Amino acid sequence: MEDKMQQIVSLAKRRGFIFPGSEIYGGLANSWDFGPLGVELKNNIKQEWWKRFVHQRADIVGIDAALLMNPKVWEASGHVAGFNDPLVECKKCHKRFRQDEVINSKCPECSGEITQPKQFNLMLKTFLGPAQEKANIVYFRPETAQAMFVDFKTILDTNHPKIPFGIAQQGKAFRNEITPGNFVFRMREFEQMEIEYFVKESEWEKYFEHWLGEMKQWLKDLGVASSKLHYVDIPDGERAHYSKRTVDIEYEYPFGQKELYGLAYRGDFDLKNHMKASGQDMRYTDTETNEKFLPHVIEPTWGVERSVLAAMLEAYHEEQAPTAEEGESATRVIMKFPAWLAPVKVAVLPLSKKPELSKVAKDIFETLAKEFVCEYDETQSIGKRYRRQDEIGTPLAVTVDFETLEKEDVTLRDRDTMKQERIKIKDLVSAIYGRLQT
Ligand code: GAP
Repeated sequence: MEDKMQQIVSLAKRRGFIFPGSEIYGGLANSWDFGPLGVELKNNIKQEWWKRFVHQRADIVGIDAALLMNPKVWEASGHVAGFNDPLVECKKCHKRFRQDEVINSKCPECSGEITQPKQFNLMLKTFLGPAQEKANIVYFRPETAQAMFVDFKTILDTNHPKIPFGIAQQGKAFRNEITPGNFVFRMREFEQMEIEYFVKESEWEKYFEHWLGEMKQWLKDLGVASSKLHYVDIPDGERAHYSKRTVDIEYEYPFGQKELYGLAYRGDFDLKNHMKASGQDMRYTDTETNEKFLPHVIEPTWGVERSVLAAMLEAYHEEQAPTAEEGESATRVIMKFPAWLAPVKVAVLPLSKKPELSKVAKDIFETLAKEFVCEYDETQSIGKRYRRQDEIGTPLAVTVDFETLEKEDVTLRDRDTMKQERIKIKDLVSAIYGRLQT
């Protein structure tokens, strides 16, 4: 199973999805850069999420808050005191681990004896301004969530939402993880997509179930098999400091079953603490009854890179190729992304580099590129080019051949079935729209 992870990591690098950051300087511990295809994949995920949960819902608004916030935010939220992982150290090789990675109190690397756990705060610090003094310490946000609580009062005053309603945000979060690793699974810099959904306390269970359903549907649409997903209710004592109920949505990665997303009932913990610490009235007023109260919060949270990883693992397929040209492997690698997720939707491929074919193919590319993310490729044999597009998950390929010059039609090739159909150039845009929707 570990092989699958290696296949994904190597395909990600080979085809420009994801590669090590700062590589020419030997990298920077587990930082990853998203290349030309990776950024498309990631943007598709973020845009689909925004469309589904912000644009298509009347009860949710979006924000894009500053990444550095007043440090008092992180005191009130409990992160300064409680956002810790227990850290242990090997007495022999001095490597450090999260306590949950150590079995039988032995070092996972050299089997040496392990120290007692110490609490290690995961927030990354920096200084704002020229003086590196304690008063100037600020934290890179460890979650996007707090901005939704801090901006809650302003949203009430400007948007006048009616309960239940949500505030959504996407963006970077930073954690000084003790042991980052497993490719983009655990990083120190990553992106989250979070919703704080404000409800009446009496209705929290109903909306908890609602969001569980939304998250299940999202995962189905991302192409993740339900058989690989586990919905784990986190017991008392193991939940984050703010949560009254948490369901971890775990996925069977090749390196084990681990968290993909989370759903938490945060009660009124955050609004209550910010109200106390800031001295501002954060209560919501029910316009019908005039009752003032602090709403309770359901928080569905998605990691962007973990979404990318699960989607890539699920999309990866190997098939026996019906024909293999010289220099090609007998195995056809196909990334069977759902069409909405595929980084490139259509490849435009002239059969040969002959100028008369290139000219028509470039015209077709220009027309299609106004509608879809397209690639133009006239290098190598047509077989190799199909293989390349299969490997990056492009659902459709348009081939321009000599018949095109006479009949004004092209072939449209389907990635999964490899079936080819002749389509008139004038009908191509609508034919592609039709196929990408199915
Ligand atoms: N606001 C709640 C919150 O931050 P979390 O479970 O700590 O909850 C939310 O993080 C999601 O962020 C996780 O479900 C995961 O998808 C992603 N995530 C957390 N830590 C991560 C890391 N070190 N690297 C990549 N993704 C991470």
